[in-house]
Amino acid sequence: MEKFSISQNVQYSIDDCNCRYLMGWAIHPSGIKKISISVEGHYVGDAVIGLERGDVGNNYPDISDSDKSGFAFIFNREFMDKPLCRIQVEIIPNDGRVFSLSQDDVPTLVMTLKDAIFSSGSETPVLAPVPWGVVKALRILLPDVYNTDNWSPELIRQAITDTGILYKSHAAIAPVQQWVIFLRTMWRRYNEFRQQWEHFNAFRVPDDKDGMGIGTIPEEMISIANQLYVLKSYGIPGEFAEFGCYKGFSSCCLSLACNELDIPMHVFDSFAGLPDTGSTFYKEGDFCGSFEEVSSNIATFGHISSVTFHKGFFSETVKDFKTPLMCLWMDVDLYTSALDVTPVFNLLDKRSCIFTHEFLGDSLNEDGTFRFETSEVLPAIADKFNKDGRNIAGEHMNVATGAIWEPGQGIPAASIDILEPLFS
Ligand SMILES: C[S@@+](CC[C@H](N)C(=O)[O-])C[C@H]1O[C@@H](n2cnc3c(N)ncnc32)[C@H](O)[C@@H]1O
Repeated sequence: MEKFSISQNVQYSIDDCNCRYLMGWAIHPSGIKKISISVEGHYVGDAVIGLERGDVGNNYPDISDSDKSGFAFIFNREFMDKPLCRIQVEIIPNDGRVFSLSQDDVPTLVMTLKDAIFSSGSETPVLAPVPWGVVKALRILLPDVYNTDNWSPELIRQAITDTGILYKSHAAIAPVQQWVIFLRTMWRRYNEFRQQWEHFNAFRVPDDKDGMGIGTIPEEMISIANQLYVLKSYGIPGEFAEFGCYKGFSSCCLSLACNELDIPMHVFDSFAGLPDTGSTFYKEGDFCGSFEEVSSNIATFGHISSVTFHKGFFSETVKDFKTPLMCLWMDVDLYTSALDVTPVFNLLDKRSCIFTHEFLGDSLNEDGTFRFETSEVLPAIADKFNKDGRNIAGEHMNVATGAIWEPGQGIPAASIDILEPLFS
């Protein structure tokens, strides 16, 4: 989608051009007589001119009426019968000359949330971390590009870039608006309460391995929040489970996403720290967040009524847990703890993925195979996949968080790097 081209002598800006309106400002030494608008080569009317623009007046004090150089035009949707239209603007100053500008591919599609509902009978989820309504919009706008079931990493990046452009154009595409606002809202909130989070673990000294009161960061959590959004858009049923909460930073982030998306969340932890496993590095009681600390943090920063707590060692608490899951996140440090979580994989929808900590930037080889020696927990997860006869694929998200899924079945997750065009 190109910007309007620059003309000489007339100074102007098109600030916004979408299916609903076009607005900007224009100045010329002789003054502006009229501004005519065409859609797809058909004249549709003249813009209202003379609107207040104090900012332009300040920048161009020598041009008369520059402070009243604003113009606006509200489109009649009847004239926009294609999802992408060519909009032309003719700026006609008082000296009679005509300056023509045009912009191709203005997104003129209007889509409500109702238009974007996933009806599982006739559609299949695409294997991409892009919500269904957004896929549907992209397919209408650019069918040659997006009418495919083969969502390569390049196509995923392209889709997210195009969605960012659509959002910034203020196109009236509700699934795009809702997705981007969800992600930006989560991102702001996570970063906001991170500033307030108790930096140190009050029961340790700062240079202990659990000397900090926080085990994850917003950059890791936003990928999980996005995946919950995407899975929900495909109508994938089930609840969400977290294993390993420490003082509850990740729980706060994800409970907010769960509340927004109406997904019940389960938090599993001993609330007494790690079990004794004979590890030389980790000790019994490391990374302890008491139930009082965690629940108080979630009540303050997260959404406590979205959460059900399961207190005790995983080996015990998973035994009676039979709730179908749409997604799972584990931050459990130890091989044995990861093993204890794996029975729950049977409750997980095949289209989903497992997010795990201890999945580092170097946990994958260039060909996508795992370097199991980089992590305590990855071998336990992979063994479970192998035992169930499932192939395994993964992607590093950020810091020490990665996502794991069954190729051809699971919807891959997106890191914040890939989602970046939606935040800028
Ligand atoms: C690194 S911390 C989690 C950090 C947290 N996700 C955050 O964002 O700050 C690991 C947590 O896993 C819990 N944990 C590890 N193994 C466990 C087990 N077998 N049973 C219960 N809890 C366990 C510990 O109690 C601890 O709270």
